[in-house]
Order: sequence, then C-alpha cells, then structure tokens
Amino acid sequence: MKDKVLSFFGLGYVGLTSAVCLASRGFKVIGFDADPQKIELINSGKAPFYEPQVEEMLREAIGSGLLSFTHNPSEAVGGSDITFITVGTPSNPDGSINLEQIKSASTQIGQALRGKSEYHLVVVRSTVIPGTTENIVKPTIEGYSGRKCGEGWGLCFNPEFLKEGSAVKDTFNPDRIVIGEFDRTSGEVLEELYRGFYGDEMPRTIRTTLVNAELVKYANNAFLAMKVSFINMIANLCQELPGADVEVIAEGIGLDKRIGPLFLRAGAGWGGSCFRKDLEAILDFASKKRVELPLIEATLEINNTQPYRMVDLAKGLIGDLIGKKVSVLGLAFKPDTDDMRDAVSIKVVEKLLEEGARVAVYDPKAMGNAKKIFGDSVEYAGSLDDCLRDSSCALIVTEWEVFKKLTPKDFIKLMKVPAVVDGRRIYKAEAFSPNLRFAAIGLGERGTAIQR
Ligand code: UGA
Repeated sequence: MKDKVLSFFGLGYVGLTSAVCLASRGFKVIGFDADPQKIELINSGKAPFYEPQVEEMLREAIGSGLLSFTHNPSEAVGGSDITFITVGTPSNPDGSINLEQIKSASTQIGQALRGKSEYHLVVVRSTVIPGTTENIVKPTIEGYSGRKCGEGWGLCFNPEFLKEGSAVKDTFNPDRIVIGEFDRTSGEVLEELYRGFYGDEMPRTIRTTLVNAELVKYANNAFLAMKVSFINMIANLCQELPGADVEVIAEGIGLDKRIGPLFLRAGAGWGGSCFRKDLEAILDFASKKRVELPLIEATLEINNTQPYRMVDLAKGLIGDLIGKKVSVLGLAFKPDTDDMRDAVSIKVVEKLLEEGARVAVYDPKAMGNAKKIFGDSVEYAGSLDDCLRDSSCALIVTEWEVFKKLTPKDFIKLMKVPAVVDGRRIYKAEAFSPNLRFAAIGLGERGTAIQR
C-alpha cells in the first residue's frame, strides 16, 4: 500500500473514476458524498452511471479493502492526508456557475481540519471559475478550521481532462498534469502523489498559480468545443457545394501539425455535461469583468442550430414529416455512456415532434434516461430492428458501434422508405447513396466520402 491516504468529496464521474483508479494502484481511498443514497449504492458495488470499466474496478477496490466510504465528512478528512473536492459545479438558470456544493464541501473540510494536527492537502478538482479556489475555498476553510492556509494545510487546483466513455483510460494516460498551487509545499505534495501513481510514466507536469490552472480548464474546453463548431460551420458550407465533403476538408487541415486531426469530426453538434456549462460560465464571468469573448459566443451559436440540420436533411429526403415514423438512432451525448445531459438528440427529437413526425428512439444504454426526458411523447423501441421497422427515415444521432455495422440492406429490409440521415458520418456514401435515399452532415450532393 502507498503511504498517502486520499479522500474524495463528491462521487460523480470524476470523483468515483479517480477513486477507483487510485485504489487500483495501491492507494487507500475514502469516499464521501453529500447524498447518502448514492454512498449506499456505490458501497454495494454499483456505479450510479455507466462508464466502461468503472463498476468492475469499483468492486475490486471494495473487495481489496483499499476503497471505503463514509457518511461522515470529518472521518473522511481525519482518516486521510489529501482531500480532493470533486463535487458538481452546475449552471444557474442565467448560465452563471453555481458554487453551492463547493462552498458546502469547503465548510465540511474546514470543520474537520479544526481538530486535525497532521498536515493536510486540499485539492480542488471540480471545474470552477478563475479566482474561486483563492477567494471562496481558501477563506471558507480558513474560517471553519481557524487555521491560515499554509499553516498545517495546503491548497491546490488541479483540473481534470477526462472524457466520458474513456474516463479510466484518460486517467491512466493523461496528456499532462496541471497543478495550481497556493504555495510550494502544496504543489510538492500533489506532484509527489502523482509520481507515486504514474511511476516511470509521469506525464509532463505544469506547476503554476491557482488562477492559471483554473483558466487552463476553461480555455481547454472552449478550444475543443470551438474546434468542433468550426468544422461544423465548414460542414454546413460543404453541404451546399456539389462534390464537397467535410471529411476530406478535416483530413486536409488536420494533417497540418499546427491544427491536428482530433476534434474535427463534423456532425449533429456537441453535447454533454461540460462544454455548454463551462462556455456559458466563462462568458458570464468575463462579462462581469467587461470582457467580451466573441469566439466562445460563436461556438455556442453554431452549436445551438446544428441539430436542426438533421431534421432539414430528413425533410430533404422524404418531404414533410407529418404522421411519418422517424427513427432516432442514438440518444446519449456520445457513445459508451448513458449520459443525456445536453445531448443533441433532445433537440432533434423535439424538432421532429414539432414537425408532426411519429418518433421512435433507440439507444444501447440511454433508454432509462431518455424516458425521464421524453415521457410518453415518443416510442421507445425494444431493439434496433424495432426502431427501424416500417420507418420512413432513420437519423444517426450518436455513433454507437452497433449502428456502424448496419448495411444498406438492413435499412432496406426493415424500413418502409429506406432513407438515412448520417449525422455522425459513420457510413460510406458510395455504398449508401446508390441503394437508398441518403444524406449526411457535411456532404454536398454527389460528394465522395473519403477513401480509407
Ligand atoms: C469534455 C472534454 O473533452 C474533457 O477533456 C473534459 O475533461 C470534459 O469535457 C469535462 O470538462 O469534464 P466530454 O464532454 O466527456 O469531455 O466528451 P467529449 O469527447 O469532449 O465530447 C463532447 C461532445 O463533442 C460530444 O457530444 C461529441 O460527440 C462531440 N464531438 C467531439 C464532436 O461532435 N466532434 C468531435 O470531433 C469530437
């Protein structure tokens, strides 16, 4: 067992994934969450969300005795050397960041530190607007512990860059580690922990101020979302140009090392729990400082209308949608997750319903979450085949592997009118176009899909 004991406040994607990964490499970890039912569920070996590998690793970690949970925040702090704050930072209705969970975690940690004599490091890992660690977390802990930061306890901000669907893989292979530190000792303790975790494969590490580390996280997500919105903007131009194909454009520009090939997959738009929330939060923050961020505004604007292009393409293939069965394949905001937060599918389904279509939906993992959103306004297909049966148009909204295996024959066999709108560019136009009605985001008329 490694010498440092860790605790996590907040057992969502980031907290639970990090906890099981650390335990898998011999660290003793204590988990705490403000929701006692969540703790019960996790303690019984069940993850409250679907994420590849997490549930198996959770069971192993509990079994090995390295991962335990408590309902008592003081026990979590008292029994550990380093506490990670991994609570949610959702949006308020006006887009500004809601820091209530950060404040309550800081309060609990402060109260627990009052009675602790050994050195303790607090690491904020939740995404927070610049200045939060210094101006909210630090004074709250100082106030409740009665101890100044740097005197027996330290503070870092350490952004996470995990992607849902590959969170475990990303934890073991990060591109870099960014450590914002209140003082040198705080940074040393955290870097030392990561050295113990990564061993010879220690990633490049940047040590900097708290505020820089906080802003790196926002700039990172804003840049990624901007890259996708950029290629979607180009895709929309391609669609109007006979012979054009955004896939070729993405490859052409992606080979330029200054641009790079990743995050240039054009499609129905980006979704998920982070991009919109973070972009809106940094816009709100900047506007209060009277700074404009026009590229971030444009990134959001492009994405707001991108899902509707799917419906326009469907209408282009089969005319008006009134009374017609339309199949939506894929509901999760990306494959390998059941997460539907800000998923593109929500806008697509709402628009289809508004156009009078009868909407059937299918997703390998997200049907449960979909029911909470769509209620009885859509038909929940029990299988992929059922979703396609007698349908007049199929829309690929999420690129699950199982959809990639479908051939033109499958659509022709099952559907009333074989018409497919490929919103994630998973099919080769040469194979589909001659056999059925086919349209794809970023593919101009008679465009040739890239040869691979
Ligand atoms: C994103 C970032 O990629 C992570 O680095 C970050 O840690 C995380 O937010 C966070 O802030 O917690 P995530 O939202 O899980 O991760 O998923 P992504 O893989 O970034 O995908 C976001 C959306 O962009 C998805 O809807 C995806 O379909 C879409 N996308 C992505 C595209 O449409 N095209 C692309 O080329 C890439």
